[in-house]
Amino acid sequence: MDALVRLLQLLVFLLTLPLHLMALLGFWEPLCKTYFPYLMAVLAVKSNRVMESKKRELFSQIKGLAGASGKVALLELGSGTSANFQFYPTGCKITCLDPNPHFEKFLTRSMAKNRHLEYERFVVAFGEYMSQLADGSMDVVVSALVLCSVQSPKSVLQEVRRVLSPVSRKGRIWAWSSNVASAAPVSRAPRMGYLLTRA
Ligand SMILES: C[S@@+](CC[C@H](N)C(=O)[O-])C[C@H]1O[C@@H](n2cnc3c(N)ncnc32)[C@H](O)[C@@H]1O
Repeated sequence: MDALVRLLQLLVFLLTLPLHLMALLGFWEPLCKTYFPYLMAVLAVKSNRVMESKKRELFSQIKGLAGASGKVALLELGSGTSANFQFYPTGCKITCLDPNPHFEKFLTRSMAKNRHLEYERFVVAFGEYMSQLADGSMDVVVSALVLCSVQSPKSVLQEVRRVLSPVSRKGRIWAWSSNVASAAPVSRAPRMGYLLTRA
């Protein structure tokens, strides 16, 4: 049995050797960063088909969260191809944040399709270090399928707390992930992972 496991391990190693070599030479990460957005664009359409009614239900709550300006300053954290834009209500002013700059052209395309939204800017940064965003500048933060891939969910949530408006204590964090249960106050959103509300 041991020998068989070793043989299989060797086989997997040999099959993935080109990828290891590319990673060693520094080619793998830029390649992934460039092409991952194309994959996400396809997957987002499929996942929206499945999640459509739940997303509509959840994001309809955003309407009542406008700040003093009458608009909802919304941060889409780990925005990817912006799969949620179509579900946000009119009056949202969107800031997108993602460490991968190659998503920008997908965001621009999506903004052109979703004229009911106001597009503030795209920030290239990690959720753990959102220093480009001012304290208390957001009414709502949405993070979908992101916390499972960050280095430190705790730091991300601390940053989210910092950028959320202190006036808008009703501000909420919607975060769902396939495999993350957070230590933050959590109420289960049926079939969609976790709905985190600010304490
Ligand atoms: C699975 S995609 C989800 C994209 C989008 N939120 C959606 O619902 O389709 C994960 C996204 O998180 C981004 N991401 C990865 N690590 C991150 C981090 N530390 N901070 C913020 N975003 C991150 C990735 O670049 C990618 O766009």
